[in-house]
Amino acid sequence: EPIEAIPIPTTDEQLTRAERARKAGEQRISSGKVAAVLVAGGQGSRLGYDGPKGKFPIGPISKMSLFQLHAEKILAVREKYGAAVPWYIMTSETNNQETIAFFEENEYFGLPKEDVIFFVQGMIPAMDANGKFFLDSKSHVFTNPNGHGGILFALRDNGCLEDMKKRGVEDIFYFQVDNVLLKICDPIFIGYHHLQDSDMSCKVVEKRYPAEKVGVIGKRDGKVAVIEYSDFSEEDMNARDSSGKLKYRHGSIAIHVIRRQFIERLTSSGITFPYHVAHKKIKYIDEKGNLIEPQKENGYKFEMFIFDALPFAKNPVVMEVRREDEFSPVKNKSGDENTPETAKRALINYHARTIKSLGFNIPFDEDGNSLIKIELSPLYAKSSEELKIKLNNILSTAREIYLK
Ligand code: UD1
Repeated sequence: EPIEAIPIPTTDEQLTRAERARKAGEQRISSGKVAAVLVAGGQGSRLGYDGPKGKFPIGPISKMSLFQLHAEKILAVREKYGAAVPWYIMTSETNNQETIAFFEENEYFGLPKEDVIFFVQGMIPAMDANGKFFLDSKSHVFTNPNGHGGILFALRDNGCLEDMKKRGVEDIFYFQVDNVLLKICDPIFIGYHHLQDSDMSCKVVEKRYPAEKVGVIGKRDGKVAVIEYSDFSEEDMNARDSSGKLKYRHGSIAIHVIRRQFIERLTSSGITFPYHVAHKKIKYIDEKGNLIEPQKENGYKFEMFIFDALPFAKNPVVMEVRREDEFSPVKNKSGDENTPETAKRALINYHARTIKSLGFNIPFDEDGNSLIKIELSPLYAKSSEELKIKLNNILSTAREIYLK
């Protein structure tokens, strides 16, 4: 069934509610009850980038990496609220060392090392159509990361839940590595989650078109759940409601607030999550010891998904946000959407709109694209007032600006 989400506020009443949530969220962050958790164990195969996706250079002018962008946002939150906001980063066997080395080389982007905690997710063997495992060397079975749902068990098994408890963390702000517009530790979202006494909350955007590759949030057997785009039927995907809008239009942008105690409860209950199956090309060693690179899909990979925890959650909050302000992921190498180019454009436009909203004269074309190439480091200003003061005078002549 479709589900109601907290709408993007337009009425006075909705704005007042959002303001109340913001205050509650700010309180939670400044009292040290919130940690950030990034899932970065994936293989980024669609992007065709060799190495952890977080190293991908994405700053439109600065060329800063996705990791640096996230790190600066966390630094900004720490400075604004005077709280530690520990950052737990899930990697996998395949990219853990390279990820840590990158943070080391960049001196943790200014974050205290003790507040950046890496942990490694589990792996699982893939199978061929006959149920046989693959070898990736003569003496080793091929395995792949067990999906971002593996995070719940990895947090427990690596002592992160215990560490959070010691630090007084009660809620985690969960995000993926690929979204350049995400508002890390958004106080409004955290506030709604807290006020509604929720175990796990979700942000959604309106789907752009029926086949868009985002999971859909709705109700299954009366419980809030995400149905992944690959599992959605053609008929449901295209269904419209009486207003002509997509019936299932709430696309998950994979941003959650999750209660630590909920994860503790789930993982100590002996629960298992379903494995979702993906048909993939898998390189392997044949009987003669030769490396075979298949031309077409030859195997099945198994992954757990974080959102399969949702049906177990009490009072989940589903909050709708503006796509142009909060969701622009880097997934594909080229094409019309979710590429490095579309993400950089989205960042420029977001920063330009932010500055325009303060009363500065930024020219845009008819498609809403800023004519000034502008990038605003998350660390440049802590508030719109500070931003306005700093910007006064410098915008009248510039055509390319990196505000750092
Ligand atoms: C994902 C969601 C989709 C959502 C979309 C929004 C899934 C299955 N689907 O799609 O519902 O609408 O994002 O952008 O999540 N990761 C790990 N370990 C793994 C696998 C993945 O840490 O074993 C991490 C990746 O590093 C990445 C994130 O999970 O940060 C998302 O993985 P990805 O495969 O890119 O998900 P999508 O198919 O894009």
